[in-house]
Amino acid sequence: METRLLLPTKENIEIVGKALYSGELAAVPTETVYGLAANALSGSAVKAVFEAKGRPMDNPLIVHISDFEQIERFKLVSEIPEKAYRLAEKFWPGPLTIIMPKGSAIPDEVSAGLQTVAIRFPSHPVTQAVITAAGCPLAAPSANTSGAPSPTAAHHVMHDMSGKIPYVIDGGTCEVGVESTVITVAEEVPMLLRPGGITLEQLEETIGKVRVSEAVLYKMKDGQKAESPGMKYKHYAPKANLILIKSSDEKYIEYVNSHAGGDVGALCYDEDVEKLFVRTFPYGGKNDYIKQAERLFDSLRAIDETELKTVYGRCPGTKGTAMAVYNRLIRAAGFEVIELA
Ligand code: TXA
Ligand code: MG
Repeated sequence: METRLLLPTKENIEIVGKALYSGELAAVPTETVYGLAANALSGSAVKAVFEAKGRPMDNPLIVHISDFEQIERFKLVSEIPEKAYRLAEKFWPGPLTIIMPKGSAIPDEVSAGLQTVAIRFPSHPVTQAVITAAGCPLAAPSANTSGAPSPTAAHHVMHDMSGKIPYVIDGGTCEVGVESTVITVAEEVPMLLRPGGITLEQLEETIGKVRVSEAVLYKMKDGQKAESPGMKYKHYAPKANLILIKSSDEKYIEYVNSHAGGDVGALCYDEDVEKLFVRTFPYGGKNDYIKQAERLFDSLRAIDETELKTVYGRCPGTKGTAMAVYNRLIRAAGFEVIELA
């Protein structure tokens, strides 16, 4: 199959919208990462998404809307909990996914057999225009091959999906750079399942106490139940062995330089670059977590273009937006952290 890379003109959005409605797939930009979209009301269209990504069928997809009233019109949920209204009012459209009890129109392929469904109203004007042109909600996971870093630019999508899907819309690079924050309000006390651009602190300001799923910060034990199926899968890991170093700035520099060699690299802060004697992949300033989130996946993909064998990364904190960066990096490193006193 030939993959057409299209600019987001009015005409192209109409073409892609019609194709999506009739069951074809298309990758579209969002403010978080690129999504691989399909008609969310069609089980067979959604099944093709799993095939193109090589995604395990037990990992449910997010349903994207371009207007709040579509939730009821398309029978996406059986109930909108009160806390969902408050979150939606504050953070939609935007990088927040809210899990609610699922409605009758949701095919089993979307919810992977769960009794809940994930809903997101993205803020990106192109995503909104495509959903509106399609005239149906769109199920869309990140548009990467399963296990690879999520795509934050059209060329990342082409790298993974060329030949497998008919359309990719090029909307430039994604502003947030990590996937949406995922929260469930389908239980008594809401739970954060995946940190993203909307922080735990912001969520708690809006709806009070939010629990954090253990899988956000810690490695899951064998046999432990995943609150979010996606968390149990290996994710984002580059070919090189990525090891995180938890230490002061000086100790990090010293450690990496003492291990310098042709096949060693550093996934570091901008400030570290001139002090390191290895190939560097800077992904933002030391305290600029928003920039780090934006650039992280591009840096992981850049590491994959090299023959490096070992890459030493810096271990971020877990407050505010840093939690999202930590959550992705710790998975990319297979939870391998060296702590230097
Ligand atoms: O920013 C984003 O959320 C992007 C863009 C394209 O919108 N999409 C995205 O989708 O990251 P995906 O499929 O890569 O990640 C969805 C995550 C997975 O970890 C999945 O397990 C979880 O959300 N999820 C979806 N439905 C769920 C449900 N009903 N209960 C628990 N977790 C759910
Ligand atoms: Mg994904």
